Amino acid sequence: MSHLALLLSGVIVVLLLFLLVKAAYSRPHNFPPGPPGLPIWGSYIQLLLENYKFPYKVMDAFTLISDYEAAKEAFNNPSLQGRISNIAIKQRMPNENLGINFRVGPELMEQRRFTLRYLRDFGFGRRSDHLESEIEAEMTELVELIRGDRQDEAVVQSSSGGDCSWRVLLPDALFPAFINGFMPVVAGNRLPWTAEGVCRYLGHAGLQTARAGDATGGFLTLHSALASIAPKMSGYHDTVESAEKILAYFHQVIEEHEKTYSDDHMRDFIDRYLKEIKEKKKMGTDTVYTIDQLGVTLFDTFLPASMVQSTVLSWVLLYVAHYPEAQRRAQLELDTVVGNSRLPNFNDRSRLPYTEAILRETMRIQTLLPIGIPHAATEDATLQGYSIPKGTVVVANLWSMHMDKGVWKDPENFRPERFLNSDGTLCTRDLTLPFSTAKRVCPGETFARQNMFLMLAALLQNFSVRANSLPPLRCNIPGAIETPPAFWAQFGPR
Ligand code: HEM
Repeated sequence: MSHLALLLSGVIVVLLLFLLVKAAYSRPHNFPPGPPGLPIWGSYIQLLLENYKFPYKVMDAFTLISDYEAAKEAFNNPSLQGRISNIAIKQRMPNENLGINFRVGPELMEQRRFTLRYLRDFGFGRRSDHLESEIEAEMTELVELIRGDRQDEAVVQSSSGGDCSWRVLLPDALFPAFINGFMPVVAGNRLPWTAEGVCRYLGHAGLQTARAGDATGGFLTLHSALASIAPKMSGYHDTVESAEKILAYFHQVIEEHEKTYSDDHMRDFIDRYLKEIKEKKKMGTDTVYTIDQLGVTLFDTFLPASMVQSTVLSWVLLYVAHYPEAQRRAQLELDTVVGNSRLPNFNDRSRLPYTEAILRETMRIQTLLPIGIPHAATEDATLQGYSIPKGTVVVANLWSMHMDKGVWKDPENFRPERFLNSDGTLCTRDLTLPFSTAKRVCPGETFARQNMFLMLAALLQNFSVRANSLPPLRCNIPGAIETPPAFWAQFGPR
């Protein structure tokens, strides 16, 4: 190479380096402070270099929203209600953002309002004699299943130690109970026990979605081509495959509903939605009510109602097995308030503060969605005096709020009593945000808290969960939702 060519190459390299450094440090006017970022990738690569598996643990330097008040302010801002999406998320719906989770704008608000309004009509998230009796029937089934009355070796086996205990596969054994706590609302029926295989199939599809996903959207959001180049590694394949399984199931349920539909008798949410589709069609108006939208709405609600609740309860059982003192205290409370001649019910909940505190503490120490579902700016916005340009991803680090030493003092310790007042009553102010907050707060919060509470109370009333050969507490499998690996827990009779 001639001297001139060498010199020119040197100049080009220096120029490129200069442009790169300039780009890394240049930020939009009045943008919040943060580490330098690269073109296209921003700070994402840096984040992964610091903690590839659990990037949220090093995210505080990258986000403004790491406390309760900041999260409330940000997520009440009408301009920060967007979402990020990627090719895998779009693919699972027919090429547009349907459902609720990834919709934005007035269509989201309309679908969200409609869905909540009519889920509630069928007992969701409120007191309902009908749904409560269905849930009680599920609690009975679950207790009987664990006692081995049902001979389901795939999920319950007698222990070999001759101590009359049972080995129970979690979360699998919990799938039917949670699925059947939700099916009466959307589809008017509980699945029979003969359909346990279906429940496990759907529950596993949910787990596949959780583990394939990455709340930040991952590299797939930045480079769609990865879907073809590395479908497995990028999470594309598993996200699409698992969604197809759940959607195919619900399209079958919708078809059955269409065949037996009657205007005069609304059996459940699916019927009510079909009615809306028919009415809008009759009026000839442009409509966002379609069968595809219904399918994805069912997906967006069924996935948390089945897999997410089962996962949370598995975490709770893992924690109480590792903390037998906490377990004993909840059992004592249950014995005093409920006794053993009947199962716990909704009326008992306010008189079981310690059991409630166990649930809260587990959702704090084990944040299920560590950065929630990211929001995005739908237009230029202002947050805490900083400018947030349209398109910026806005993330609240829920995990960091739950582990903040300033708030919790000893966040690493599992201490349910931190949620109790000195007289043993439950603190009215709860500074945890496992369901996020404000305008897009999880619409399933009330339902999930009620349901998980009852299942937990029924299990602790009837069994003691032992720590024999359990996975350690920090066994999180990374993903959009943090799950433990499947494990066999030992349940002893009480
Ligand atoms: C333990 C159980 C659950 C946890 C920890 C949880 C947590 C969350 C979180 C953190 C969000 C994000 C909110 C935001 O964007 O700021 C969310 C959204 C959502 N959740 Fe849940 N959830 C649970 C159960 C449920 C249940 C049972 C349902 C419904 C049946 C449900 C339906 C939804 C829907 C539809 C959204 C999207 C809301 C929107 O985009 O506007 N979740 N959930």
